[in-house]
Amino acid sequence: MRQRSGRNYSAGWRQVLVPFLLSLFRGALSDQIHYSISEELAKNTVVGNLAKDLGFRVRDLPVRKLRISGEKEYFTVNPENGDLLVSDRIDREQICGKKPQCVLDFDAIAENPLNIFHVTVIVKDINDNIPLFKQSTTDLKIVESTQPGTTFPLDPALDSDAGPYSLQRYHLNDNEYFDLSEKQKPDGRKYPELILRHSLDREEQNFHHLVLTAVDGGDPPQSGTTQIRIQVTDANDNPPVFSQNTYRVRLREDMPPGTSVLRVAATDKDEDVNAEITYSFHNVDEQVAHFFSLNERTGEITTKDYLDFEVAHTYTLSIEAKDSGDLAAHCSVQVDILDENDSAPEVIVTSVFTPLPEDSPRGTVIALIKTRDRDSGENGEVYCRVFGNNEFKLKSSSNNYYKLVTDGTLDREQIPEYNITIMATDRGKPPLSSSTSLTVHIGDVNDNTPAFHQSTYLVHVAENNQPGSSIAQVRASDLDLGSSGQVSYSIVASDLEPQALSSYVSVNAQSGVVFAQRAFDHEQLRAFKLTLQACDQGSPALCANVSLRVLVGDRNDNAPRVLYPALEPEGSALFDTVPRAAQPGYLVTKVVAVDADSGHNAWLSFHVLQASEPGLFSLGLRTGEVRTARALGDRDASRQRLLVAVRDGGQPPLSATATLLLVFADSLQEALPDLSDRPMASDSQAELQFYLVVALALISVLFLLAVTLAIALRLRRASRPTTWGCIQPGVSSNSGPGVLPNCSEGTLPYSYNLCIASQSAKTEFNFFGMTPELAPTQDLLSDDTSWVPNTNREDTEIPFASDTILEVSATF
Ligand SMILES: *[C@@H]1O[C@H](CO)[C@@H](O)[C@H](O)[C@H]1NC(C)=O
Ligand SMILES: *[C@@H]1O[C@H](CO)[C@@H](O)[C@H](O)[C@H]1NC(C)=O
Ligand SMILES: *[C@@H]1O[C@H](CO)[C@@H](O)[C@H](O)[C@H]1NC(C)=O
Repeated sequence: MRQRSGRNYSAGWRQVLVPFLLSLFRGALSDQIHYSISEELAKNTVVGNLAKDLGFRVRDLPVRKLRISGEKEYFTVNPENGDLLVSDRIDREQICGKKPQCVLDFDAIAENPLNIFHVTVIVKDINDNIPLFKQSTTDLKIVESTQPGTTFPLDPALDSDAGPYSLQRYHLNDNEYFDLSEKQKPDGRKYPELILRHSLDREEQNFHHLVLTAVDGGDPPQSGTTQIRIQVTDANDNPPVFSQNTYRVRLREDMPPGTSVLRVAATDKDEDVNAEITYSFHNVDEQVAHFFSLNERTGEITTKDYLDFEVAHTYTLSIEAKDSGDLAAHCSVQVDILDENDSAPEVIVTSVFTPLPEDSPRGTVIALIKTRDRDSGENGEVYCRVFGNNEFKLKSSSNNYYKLVTDGTLDREQIPEYNITIMATDRGKPPLSSSTSLTVHIGDVNDNTPAFHQSTYLVHVAENNQPGSSIAQVRASDLDLGSSGQVSYSIVASDLEPQALSSYVSVNAQSGVVFAQRAFDHEQLRAFKLTLQACDQGSPALCANVSLRVLVGDRNDNAPRVLYPALEPEGSALFDTVPRAAQPGYLVTKVVAVDADSGHNAWLSFHVLQASEPGLFSLGLRTGEVRTARALGDRDASRQRLLVAVRDGGQPPLSATATLLLVFADSLQEALPDLSDRPMASDSQAELQFYLVVALALISVLFLLAVTLAIALRLRRASRPTTWGCIQPGVSSNSGPGVLPNCSEGTLPYSYNLCIASQSAKTEFNFFGMTPELAPTQDLLSDDTSWVPNTNREDTEIPFASDTILEVSATF
């Protein structure tokens, strides 16, 4: 490899030249022989013919035994022809290094005779070394922020050749960023240096590949290369960049805490640490910090609390992204809160006018009501209504205001208070509603009159009552409150004499108890009527009337009174004559007695107490009729005496006695002697006659009155259908059209049924004694008891008259 034809030629030329010169100067140089060869000759290359150069003949050679001595044997001598041959590799750089002249000295020894010859071989350099770099690749790291002009020393290449064949220069492949220069170290060694021409940008090109070539001075020149790999390392020269400057996101307000809102993303063109971005809020107010949190690594925004559209419609979040080199970028995030109908409407009662008078007219304002809904749009539109009460309604006033007004009549006595529920509903879907209640008390107004517990009162009071005792109690109640409901009682009218009223009855204003002021007497006053008034204390007061009827009941406080025979102080003055020939059953006389009481108390019975001839006369138990029981016998005295007791039916009974004188005589004269004894008798007889005449006249007048009345009624009701009216005083009231206006009240000693046949042309009146056990003979007689005119139907409720026992006790 190292031998080229050119060199061989040159070597061959020198091989010829040098021995020639040596032989010229043989004597002078005294055995100094010089050769010059190129290095790196092949083995057995002939350097020169040493034998010839030493003046030996070829045939002497085996004798002389020419040989080379030296430490290192680079050469040998060919024993046949005496040529000096290269016996080993001769590397000038190895033997002489960088010495400019490389000389190999050795001795050649010949024997017979022994001679030593000094041989010098000059080794000449050839370009047998190429410049070499120690490493085939060089790795460099250059920070992208390096300033242009900065130099980077490189390892030099080595070329062992010396002189012109040594390393001459370096060069770099074409590139944009780097230049090359050569520098010399203080020791003189040269080395290449990279110079940065332009600033680098890792983000644009992070790797550069260069080839450095070292060239020596050979012809042709030899060269060596090394790869330079340049890694551009990152400098934090890029700030983070957000993907958007402004983010906008819409979020429903009812999202639970922790909901992800948005993820902001910033990128940094730098790498590794320089690209590590942290996110943070930048200049945000407390509100934002309260509601949102930001993950500083991922840039994710989440909610921290329930958002409320009603608190804020929108939030602006300013976010900063920062890399490790404190380069920052900003963006803003606008979060719009979407309204949900999550707020129920509110009802606010601003003022209530209570209590409300019950006579308030329809439309009276009771309360002002305000509604509020924090939602917006339809979710915030509220309508109100009253729940459950018909008496009230809402009138929409101005915006969101309502008036609660009455819409009906109120009555405290029926409903004293109202719980009014007002319900507000919004128009969301589904709607939300809320309600509130208010209590309205209804105020009292004196609108109720006192009301008596009974429509009429009827009391029975037995006569001879205790003065001052209570006889009745009336009660009225008033539903109004307070003084409007306090009732006081008074007597406002009566059918008594106005002056006498206070002496009869009084009423307790508070309790309504009616007191008798005196003892009543049935015989004087059978009944009376009072009008009682109950008034409340309202202003004006309201009053009510009620009638109280007091019936005075009978007691057996009157003894029977004998009318005939009249009593005389000294005994019986009158006598009755009986014909001597009177048959048994002959009506002799009749004991006439009356009792002022009524009913049983006036039901008289007659008993014989004493008789001068028992069995001669009989006495009617009820009638008082004295009849002969048998014919007068001869032995019977002409004068008889009967002691008769008249007893009433009361408990205990009261009685009276009468003495009858009976004279059997056929003429008055016959009896006169007895009469003459008692002139006063004729007077009493006349008196009796007078009574009878008066009684008859009275009956006639009554009869005439009745007939007249009947005719009048008949004429008046001629067109009416046939009716029969019966008046049965003391039994029951069955008033029909034909009833006489005046009906007897209370118990009469006599009892009648008066029947009027109004259809018949002939008006007839019949008086019937109705009681079966009455005596067959009817004696009609009125006593001092007259008909008491009365129109009141209640009068028939007379307990004493409820039984049907009627009696007739009268006699002529
Ligand atoms: C509000 O109404 C919407 C529909 O309009 C419904 O989807 C939502 O559930 C409602 N929200 C609430 C809190 O009732
Ligand atoms: C009104 O409400 C109150 C309290 O809840 C209750 O005591 C009262 O009975 C109610 N009144 C009516 C008339 O419902
Ligand atoms: C009650 O009776 C009195 C007296 O008769 C009368 O003046 C008054 O008008 C009556 N009142 C009523 C409410 O009937």
